[in-house]
Amino acid sequence: MPRVLSCIQPTGSVHLGNHLGALVNWVSGQHDGDVFHGIVDLHALTITEQPGILGQSTVELAAMLFAVGLDPEVATVFVQSHIHEHTELAWIMECTVSFGELSRMTQFKDKSAKREGDFISAGLFTYPALQAADILLYDADEVPVGEDQRQHIEITRDIAIRFNHRFGETFVLPKAVHPKAGARVMDLQDPTSKMSKSAETENGIVYLLDENSVIEKKFKRAVTDSDGVVAYDRANKPGVSNLLDILSAATGTPAETLAETYSQYGPLKKDTGDAVIALVDPIRARYHELMNDKGELARLLKIGNQRAREVAAQTLDRAHRAIGLMPRI
Ligand code: TYM
Repeated sequence: MPRVLSCIQPTGSVHLGNHLGALVNWVSGQHDGDVFHGIVDLHALTITEQPGILGQSTVELAAMLFAVGLDPEVATVFVQSHIHEHTELAWIMECTVSFGELSRMTQFKDKSAKREGDFISAGLFTYPALQAADILLYDADEVPVGEDQRQHIEITRDIAIRFNHRFGETFVLPKAVHPKAGARVMDLQDPTSKMSKSAETENGIVYLLDENSVIEKKFKRAVTDSDGVVAYDRANKPGVSNLLDILSAATGTPAETLAETYSQYGPLKKDTGDAVIALVDPIRARYHELMNDKGELARLLKIGNQRAREVAAQTLDRAHRAIGLMPRI
């Protein structure tokens, strides 16, 4: 059974990009591997400045992960800051990656450019080292993520290769696994940018907790183009293709096949909205149930934290031994 790991940040509410690009696959894959899923609150600290927010978002995200269908008896769901090995291994990762490699990360370049003139934390720069620690701590063979995370998994492999070369075989080399449909869900208002919490307006982002009427409205107003032809062509028809991709991910029918069944944008928008509502309706119901039973939610998270801790402690110990740090006394 492959060891599988993937994580998500508790920044804002879960959107359709996270769901179709990641969570759907986490759920469908939970019986095919020994899977670990982390709520990476420390990553969110790179941009969080107000007190009291991260803990609440972590609880909400945990409820959402169980609501989408992760079974705590099967999948190990944990909170990153509760497993101290993540930050400890992150330091070792920082010493195994170069300044040049971190400088070439497109996510750092994009995010720091957006914050120009604002506070840019060193954590935003060293973020990939913490992500490498998240992955390598669990000996992950596979990391299912959306396309936007490709570079992060590549740098994790480079770090692991370098560490193993310097100190001897210690870490498993992970590989990124991308879903066929939904790997890159685009913003409904700006279909050349990925759907992301950092977008300027909320109109192009569909949140799983949006009301049905809001979801309908967002799809109705989705940006398409003016030639009126339904065709799957990501480069030339990004808006229409994004709708087809979303409908495909929600229904399981290939986007090209779907394109042949529509001749107008209106029905495509309506059906895509309806398919998304059908997908999220039961999830929202389970989410609210769990949010009303915090004791149960804590119990479920404890199961994951305990198992994560066991695995992480062993790997960190292995890394310390490989480096040849003085044994603990
Ligand atoms: P995050 O929290 O931004 O996103 C979580 C997951 O959702 C996917 N995703 C998307 N997929 C398709 N279309 C989109 N528009 C879209 N937006 C987000 C992401 O690819 C991801 O799979 N750095 C990571 C978190 C992380 C991590 C890790 C992931 C930290 N440590 C270890 C994997 C393994 C991030 O910011 O994801």
